[in-house]
Amino acid sequence: MIPDQKQHWNEIYSRNAEFFGEEPSDFAKHALAQFRENGVSELLELGPGQGRDTIYFAENGLVIEGLDYSSQSISELNAKLEGRSIASRIKLQMHDIREPIPFPDSTFDACYAHMLLCMHFKENDIQTALAEIHRVIRPGGLVVYSVRSTFDPHYKHPEATYLGEKLYEIGGFVVHFFSEAMIRKFARGFKIVNIGRLKEGSLPRDLFVVVLKKTGPIEGAAVEGNMSDAFGLYQDFFDAAYGPGVLDKKTKFLIAVGASLAAGCET
Ligand SMILES: C[S@@+](CC[C@H](N)C(=O)[O-])C[C@H]1O[C@@H](n2cnc3c(N)ncnc32)[C@H](O)[C@@H]1O
Repeated sequence: MIPDQKQHWNEIYSRNAEFFGEEPSDFAKHALAQFRENGVSELLELGPGQGRDTIYFAENGLVIEGLDYSSQSISELNAKLEGRSIASRIKLQMHDIREPIPFPDSTFDACYAHMLLCMHFKENDIQTALAEIHRVIRPGGLVVYSVRSTFDPHYKHPEATYLGEKLYEIGGFVVHFFSEAMIRKFARGFKIVNIGRLKEGSLPRDLFVVVLKKTGPIEGAAVEGNMSDAFGLYQDFFDAAYGPGVLDKKTKFLIAVGASLAAGCET
Protein backbone atom coordinates (compact mmCIF):
# COMPACT_ATOMS: atom_id res chain seq x y z
CA MET A 1 0.00 0.00 0.00
CA ILE A 2 1.24 3.52 -0.84
CA PRO A 3 1.76 5.50 2.40
CA ASP A 4 -0.02 8.83 2.80
CA GLN A 5 2.74 11.20 1.69
CA LYS A 6 2.13 14.01 4.19
CA GLN A 7 2.23 11.49 7.04
CA HIS A 8 5.31 9.87 5.49
CA TRP A 9 7.23 13.18 5.43
CA ASN A 10 6.21 13.89 9.04
CA GLU A 11 7.58 10.49 10.10
CA ILE A 12 10.78 10.83 8.05
CA TYR A 13 11.52 14.24 9.58
CA SER A 14 10.70 13.17 13.14
CA ARG A 15 13.07 10.18 12.79
CA ASN A 16 15.94 12.22 11.28
CA ALA A 17 16.60 15.84 12.29
CA GLU A 18 18.67 16.53 9.15
CA PHE A 19 17.23 14.18 6.53
CA PHE A 20 18.89 16.05 3.61
CA GLY A 21 21.94 17.08 5.65
CA GLU A 22 22.82 20.30 7.49
CA GLU A 23 24.55 22.08 4.63
CA PRO A 24 22.72 24.11 1.96
CA SER A 25 22.25 22.20 -1.29
CA ASP A 26 24.47 22.90 -4.32
CA PHE A 27 21.26 23.82 -6.09
CA ALA A 28 20.57 26.59 -3.52
CA LYS A 29 24.04 28.04 -4.20
CA HIS A 30 23.33 28.01 -7.93
CA ALA A 31 19.93 29.66 -7.25
CA LEU A 32 21.40 32.36 -5.00
CA ALA A 33 23.72 33.43 -7.84
CA GLN A 34 20.65 33.81 -10.10
CA PHE A 35 18.79 35.74 -7.39
CA ARG A 36 21.72 38.16 -6.89
CA GLU A 37 22.05 38.77 -10.65
CA ASN A 38 18.35 39.60 -10.82
CA GLY A 39 18.07 41.74 -7.66
CA VAL A 40 15.75 39.29 -5.86
CA SER A 41 14.94 40.13 -2.24
CA GLU A 42 11.48 38.62 -1.56
CA LEU A 43 11.37 34.89 -2.13
CA LEU A 44 8.60 32.28 -2.02
CA GLU A 45 9.97 28.83 -1.17
CA LEU A 46 7.79 25.80 -1.84
CA GLY A 47 8.53 22.63 0.16
CA PRO A 48 11.35 23.98 2.37
CA GLY A 49 11.36 20.76 4.45
CA GLN A 50 13.83 21.06 7.34
CA GLY A 51 15.10 24.35 5.96
CA ARG A 52 18.71 23.69 4.89
CA ASP A 53 18.25 26.12 1.93
CA THR A 54 15.78 28.48 3.67
CA ILE A 55 18.35 29.29 6.37
CA TYR A 56 21.08 29.78 3.75
CA PHE A 57 18.93 32.26 1.77
CA ALA A 58 18.05 34.19 4.94
CA GLU A 59 21.73 34.30 5.99
CA ASN A 60 22.37 35.85 2.58
CA GLY A 61 19.86 38.64 3.12
CA LEU A 62 16.70 37.31 1.41
CA VAL A 63 13.25 37.51 3.00
CA ILE A 64 11.44 34.19 2.65
CA GLU A 65 7.87 32.90 2.91
CA GLY A 66 7.96 29.10 3.03
CA LEU A 67 5.03 26.75 2.37
CA ASP A 68 5.16 23.05 3.27
CA TYR A 69 2.32 20.65 4.11
CA SER A 70 4.38 18.80 6.73
CA SER A 71 3.59 20.13 10.22
CA GLN A 72 6.78 18.42 11.44
CA SER A 73 8.93 20.39 8.96
CA ILE A 74 7.36 23.70 10.02
CA SER A 75 7.75 23.07 13.75
CA GLU A 76 11.34 21.79 13.41
CA LEU A 77 12.38 24.75 11.29
CA ASN A 78 10.69 27.24 13.63
CA ALA A 79 12.54 25.60 16.55
CA LYS A 80 15.88 25.95 14.70
CA LEU A 81 15.21 29.67 14.18
CA GLU A 82 14.43 30.46 17.82
CA GLY A 83 16.70 33.22 19.15
CA ARG A 84 18.44 33.74 15.78
CA SER A 85 18.46 37.15 14.09
CA ILE A 86 17.51 35.62 10.72
CA ALA A 87 14.17 34.47 12.24
CA SER A 88 12.63 37.85 11.33
CA ARG A 89 13.35 37.13 7.65
CA ILE A 90 11.60 33.72 7.50
CA LYS A 91 7.85 33.08 7.75
CA LEU A 92 6.46 29.58 7.41
CA GLN A 93 2.95 28.27 6.79
CA MET A 94 1.53 24.79 6.57
CA HIS A 95 0.04 24.61 3.11
CA ASP A 96 -0.68 21.98 0.44
CA ILE A 97 0.66 23.19 -2.92
CA ARG A 98 -2.27 21.48 -4.69
CA GLU A 99 -4.39 24.31 -3.21
CA PRO A 100 -4.22 27.97 -4.39
CA ILE A 101 -1.11 29.76 -3.06
CA PRO A 102 -2.28 32.03 -0.19
CA PHE A 103 -0.75 35.32 -1.44
CA PRO A 104 -1.99 38.15 -3.68
CA ASP A 105 -0.85 38.55 -7.30
CA SER A 106 2.72 39.82 -7.93
CA THR A 107 3.88 39.46 -4.31
CA PHE A 108 7.35 37.94 -4.82
CA ASP A 109 10.50 38.63 -6.83
CA ALA A 110 11.10 34.90 -7.26
CA CYS A 111 10.00 31.39 -6.37
CA TYR A 112 12.34 28.53 -5.36
CA ALA A 113 11.30 24.87 -5.17
CA HIS A 114 13.94 22.18 -4.67
CA MET A 115 12.49 18.69 -5.39
CA LEU A 116 8.91 19.80 -4.65
CA LEU A 117 7.19 19.69 -8.05
CA CYS A 118 8.35 16.06 -8.51
CA MET A 119 6.40 14.91 -5.45
CA HIS A 120 2.99 13.18 -5.52
CA PHE A 121 1.43 15.53 -8.09
CA LYS A 122 -0.43 14.51 -11.25
CA GLU A 123 0.46 16.49 -14.38
CA ASN A 124 -2.68 18.64 -13.86
CA ASP A 125 -1.54 19.52 -10.32
CA ILE A 126 1.90 20.55 -11.63
CA GLN A 127 0.37 22.74 -14.34
CA THR A 128 -1.98 24.36 -11.78
CA ALA A 129 0.85 24.91 -9.28
CA LEU A 130 2.98 26.59 -11.95
CA ALA A 131 0.04 28.82 -12.92
CA GLU A 132 -0.28 29.82 -9.25
CA ILE A 133 3.47 30.50 -9.01
CA HIS A 134 3.15 32.62 -12.18
CA ARG A 135 0.35 34.61 -10.52
CA VAL A 136 2.18 35.39 -7.27
CA ILE A 137 5.51 36.48 -8.77
CA ARG A 138 6.09 39.87 -10.33
CA PRO A 139 6.43 40.40 -14.09
CA GLY A 140 10.05 39.58 -14.91
CA GLY A 141 10.26 37.43 -11.74
CA LEU A 142 12.23 34.17 -11.60
CA VAL A 143 11.20 30.60 -10.91
CA VAL A 144 14.11 28.36 -9.99
CA TYR A 145 13.10 24.74 -9.50
CA SER A 146 14.59 21.25 -9.48
CA VAL A 147 12.87 17.92 -10.16
CA ARG A 148 13.96 14.26 -10.32
CA SER A 149 14.63 13.44 -13.99
CA THR A 150 13.92 10.40 -16.16
CA PHE A 151 17.71 9.77 -15.97
CA ASP A 152 17.38 9.15 -12.20
CA PRO A 153 18.34 5.62 -11.05
CA HIS A 154 14.91 5.21 -9.40
CA TYR A 155 12.99 5.91 -12.63
CA LYS A 156 11.40 2.59 -13.72
CA HIS A 157 13.38 0.81 -10.98
CA PRO A 158 12.36 -2.87 -10.75
CA GLU A 159 11.33 -2.39 -7.10
CA ALA A 160 9.21 0.70 -7.86
CA THR A 161 5.42 0.57 -8.11
CA TYR A 162 4.02 2.30 -11.20
CA LEU A 163 1.20 4.77 -10.43
CA GLY A 164 0.41 6.22 -13.90
CA GLU A 165 1.91 9.10 -15.94
CA LYS A 166 5.58 9.16 -14.79
CA LEU A 167 4.71 8.59 -11.12
CA TYR A 168 6.38 5.77 -9.18
CA GLU A 169 6.45 4.80 -5.52
CA ILE A 170 9.77 3.56 -4.19
CA GLY A 171 10.74 3.03 -0.55
CA GLY A 172 7.51 4.77 0.54
CA PHE A 173 8.19 7.96 -1.48
CA VAL A 174 6.02 8.86 -4.47
CA VAL A 175 8.05 10.63 -7.17
CA HIS A 176 6.97 12.17 -10.48
CA PHE A 177 9.98 11.87 -12.79
CA PHE A 178 10.30 14.71 -15.34
CA SER A 179 11.41 14.56 -18.96
CA GLU A 180 12.77 17.71 -20.62
CA ALA A 181 9.68 17.77 -22.84
CA MET A 182 7.48 18.03 -19.71
CA ILE A 183 9.50 21.00 -18.43
CA ARG A 184 9.00 22.79 -21.76
CA LYS A 185 5.30 21.90 -21.87
CA PHE A 186 4.74 23.28 -18.33
CA ALA A 187 6.57 26.58 -19.01
CA ARG A 188 3.54 28.49 -20.35
CA GLY A 189 3.78 32.23 -19.59
CA PHE A 190 7.50 31.90 -18.86
CA LYS A 191 10.69 32.28 -20.87
CA ILE A 192 12.96 29.27 -20.32
CA VAL A 193 16.26 30.79 -19.18
CA ASN A 194 18.01 27.49 -18.59
CA ILE A 195 17.45 23.74 -18.21
CA GLY A 196 20.47 21.96 -16.70
CA ARG A 197 21.27 18.73 -14.87
CA LEU A 198 22.66 18.18 -11.36
CA LYS A 199 23.36 15.14 -9.19
CA GLU A 200 22.55 15.17 -5.48
CA GLY A 201 23.01 12.76 -2.57
CA SER A 202 24.45 9.27 -2.38
CA LEU A 203 22.08 7.56 -4.88
CA PRO A 204 22.82 10.00 -6.55
CA ARG A 205 19.48 11.58 -7.48
CA ASP A 206 19.56 12.93 -11.03
CA LEU A 207 17.87 16.33 -11.21
CA PHE A 208 16.74 18.71 -13.90
CA VAL A 209 17.47 22.24 -12.66
CA VAL A 210 15.31 24.86 -14.28
CA VAL A 211 15.32 28.66 -14.41
CA LEU A 212 12.21 30.40 -15.80
CA LYS A 213 11.40 34.10 -16.14
CA LYS A 214 7.80 35.39 -16.06
CA THR A 215 7.19 37.04 -19.42
CA GLY A 216 3.49 37.68 -19.87
CA PRO A 217 0.05 36.29 -19.11
CA ILE A 218 -0.45 32.53 -19.35
CA GLU A 219 -3.54 32.90 -21.54
CA GLY A 220 -2.52 32.79 -25.17
CA ALA A 221 1.17 32.51 -24.29
CA ALA A 222 2.92 30.38 -26.85
CA VAL A 223 4.39 27.14 -25.57
CA GLU A 224 8.05 27.19 -26.55
CA GLY A 225 8.22 24.44 -29.09
CA ASN A 226 10.41 22.80 -31.67
CA MET A 227 10.72 19.42 -33.31
CA SER A 228 12.73 17.89 -30.47
CA ASP A 229 9.89 18.85 -28.06
CA ALA A 230 7.44 17.07 -30.34
CA PHE A 231 9.63 13.96 -30.28
CA GLY A 232 9.93 14.27 -26.48
CA LEU A 233 6.15 14.44 -26.06
CA TYR A 234 5.75 11.50 -28.46
CA GLN A 235 8.24 9.56 -26.34
CA ASP A 236 6.36 10.54 -23.15
CA PHE A 237 3.19 9.11 -24.71
CA PHE A 238 4.93 5.81 -25.48
CA ASP A 239 6.53 5.68 -22.02
CA ALA A 240 3.12 6.11 -20.40
CA ALA A 241 1.31 3.72 -22.77
CA TYR A 242 3.98 1.04 -22.39
CA GLY A 243 4.22 1.39 -18.58
CA PRO A 244 3.65 -1.85 -16.65
CA GLY A 245 0.01 -2.99 -16.78
CA VAL A 246 -1.29 -0.09 -18.92
CA LEU A 247 -1.90 -1.91 -22.22
CA ASP A 248 -2.26 -5.58 -23.11
CA LYS A 249 0.17 -7.26 -25.50
CA LYS A 250 -2.18 -7.19 -28.53
CA THR A 251 -2.86 -3.43 -28.21
CA LYS A 252 0.89 -2.72 -27.91
CA PHE A 253 1.46 -4.78 -31.08
CA LEU A 254 -1.28 -2.89 -33.00
CA ILE A 255 0.19 0.49 -31.93
CA ALA A 256 3.65 -0.63 -33.05
CA VAL A 257 2.27 -1.75 -36.46
CA GLY A 258 0.35 1.55 -36.83
CA ALA A 259 3.45 3.60 -35.97
CA SER A 260 5.55 1.59 -38.46
CA LEU A 261 2.98 2.15 -41.23
CA ALA A 262 2.77 5.87 -40.41
CA ALA A 263 6.56 6.06 -40.65
CA GLY A 264 6.41 4.42 -44.10
CA CYS A 265 7.92 1.06 -43.11
CA GLU A 266 6.83 -2.13 -44.85
CA THR A 267 5.31 -4.56 -42.33
C1 LIG B 1 12.04 16.10 -1.35
S1 LIG B 1 11.57 17.11 0.03
C2 LIG B 1 12.62 18.52 -0.27
C3 LIG B 1 12.79 19.40 0.94
C4 LIG B 1 13.70 20.60 0.74
N1 LIG B 1 13.32 21.38 -0.42
C5 LIG B 1 15.15 20.19 0.62
O1 LIG B 1 15.62 20.01 -0.51
O2 LIG B 1 15.78 20.02 1.67
C6 LIG B 1 9.97 17.65 -0.47
C7 LIG B 1 9.25 18.54 0.51
O3 LIG B 1 8.00 18.91 -0.09
C8 LIG B 1 6.96 18.79 0.84
N2 LIG B 1 5.73 18.49 0.06
C9 LIG B 1 5.47 17.39 -0.68
N3 LIG B 1 4.27 17.48 -1.24
C10 LIG B 1 3.73 18.66 -0.86
C11 LIG B 1 2.51 19.34 -1.11
N4 LIG B 1 1.54 18.78 -1.86
N5 LIG B 1 2.31 20.55 -0.56
C12 LIG B 1 3.27 21.11 0.23
N6 LIG B 1 4.44 20.53 0.51
C13 LIG B 1 4.68 19.32 -0.02
C14 LIG B 1 7.38 17.68 1.79
O4 LIG B 1 6.75 17.81 3.06
C15 LIG B 1 8.89 17.87 1.83
O5 LIG B 1 9.24 18.75 2.89
